[in-house]
Amino acid sequence: MKFDTIIRNGTIVTASDTFRCDVGIQDGCIIALADNLFDAAEIIDASGPYVMPGGIDSHVHLAQPSGDGIVMADDFASGTLSAAFGGNTTVMPFCMQEKGTTLRESLKVYHEKAKGECYIDVSFHIVVTDPTGYVLGQELPALVEDGYTSIKVFMTYDNLRLRDDEILATLDSARSSGALVMVHCENEDAIRFLIGRHEKNGELAPKYHATSRPVAAEREATHRALSLAEIVETPIVIVHVSNREAMEEIQRARARGSKVAGETCPQYLMLTADDLDATELDGAKFVCSPPPRDKQSQAACWEGLQNGTFDVFSSDHCPFRFEDDQGKLNGKGKRNFRWIPNGIPGVETRLPILFSEGVGKGRIDLNRFVALSSTNHAKLYGLYPQKGTIAIGSDADIALWDPNKSVKITNDILHHGSDYTPYEGLDVTGWPVRVLVRGKTVTDGATLVGAKGSGNYLDRARSSLAHSRANS
Ligand code: URP
Ligand code: ZN
Ligand code: ZN
Ligand code: ZN
Repeated sequence: MKFDTIIRNGTIVTASDTFRCDVGIQDGCIIALADNLFDAAEIIDASGPYVMPGGIDSHVHLAQPSGDGIVMADDFASGTLSAAFGGNTTVMPFCMQEKGTTLRESLKVYHEKAKGECYIDVSFHIVVTDPTGYVLGQELPALVEDGYTSIKVFMTYDNLRLRDDEILATLDSARSSGALVMVHCENEDAIRFLIGRHEKNGELAPKYHATSRPVAAEREATHRALSLAEIVETPIVIVHVSNREAMEEIQRARARGSKVAGETCPQYLMLTADDLDATELDGAKFVCSPPPRDKQSQAACWEGLQNGTFDVFSSDHCPFRFEDDQGKLNGKGKRNFRWIPNGIPGVETRLPILFSEGVGKGRIDLNRFVALSSTNHAKLYGLYPQKGTIAIGSDADIALWDPNKSVKITNDILHHGSDYTPYEGLDVTGWPVRVLVRGKTVTDGATLVGAKGSGNYLDRARSSLAHSRANS
């Protein structure tokens, strides 16, 4: 047989083109794109759905310890399974550096957690929380050579944040090693001040999470991150941008010549701060940082997806259970918003929401959908063209999308470990009906076909953004 699998009569959609042909797959790779392919062990009829590159979600949290006995609702098995049912073929979770340990020690822990567990391919970003001379001088350059080509730094969270001098030193090391730096931009001192004021006033309900993290705290930190990056001429990614003012900081930095990528997430298109003001403690279900804003910010984020302010659309999947002492309403979280773990689930709903609200409602076209959901992630994080496109030589990571399938999102149809979805009751049109990773079907949309452990760990090349800057 010439092929293991042929996907027949499909409309192929890439970030740049839409065309009709068959896809021939062998040994996990796309080896032919042509009409009338024949001679395969398996024929998949794709005359109805679109044939698109599988989603790449470059911002996902799985199996991270969250302190205080709080446990994340997804491990690598449930998180990658949920991702697959949401049309994804690769996810990029974080490996969190434990303070006092090296990056390699932390990586060992996360590789252990992921080993034999994944349904789709994975690759780690490393969160740098302890940027010692050894970490920045020796470890990071060697790790980049080994395929760990992106890191994240936090400007908020007392236990994770870096000071400006530490951020500068980290950026400087990243520039010379070619690592791409993702930055969580919120001003921690301002937030702590506002949390203190709320506490003094006895304002402890979940809704005060949003008012303790205002737009100005995000805008200021975004400006500062961009300024620090400019000072040491290092490309950065501003992640989970929630509003127009932070977007304008990105646009201004680009106009000055900085290499900056931008990311936004479904919560900033679909939720507002009002969702945190729900009855009882239901608002805790929507607590994430930065918090969802308002209708104007949602419109701004759509604009950013259309006009290129945002390169990537990620989930920031960070799942906790709601009805659980180890989740959102842990003993302390019930009494005070500041103890509600930050983060919401969304790895399975990211792409249906972007498809339905974006393509379905005429805000973006199919090619932009593919760019935002897959191709740009692969380019930004050094996986392209192995991942993120449908081309000869690329991995056969493919999602078949039925553009007319209507689904009411409810938690019981999802596969994540969380006991709720922030999008309960949302009607979407467009759903992934088959997902193949390296040519093997993981799900047919309804049932699991793939096997735990079939996902590979991916070493990555340097980012296209970091590479062009490092050599300029
Ligand atoms: O609230 C959020 N986003 N939690 C996840 C951690 C992060 O900052 O990305
Ligand atoms: Zn973050
Ligand atoms: Zn995150
Ligand atoms: Zn180079």
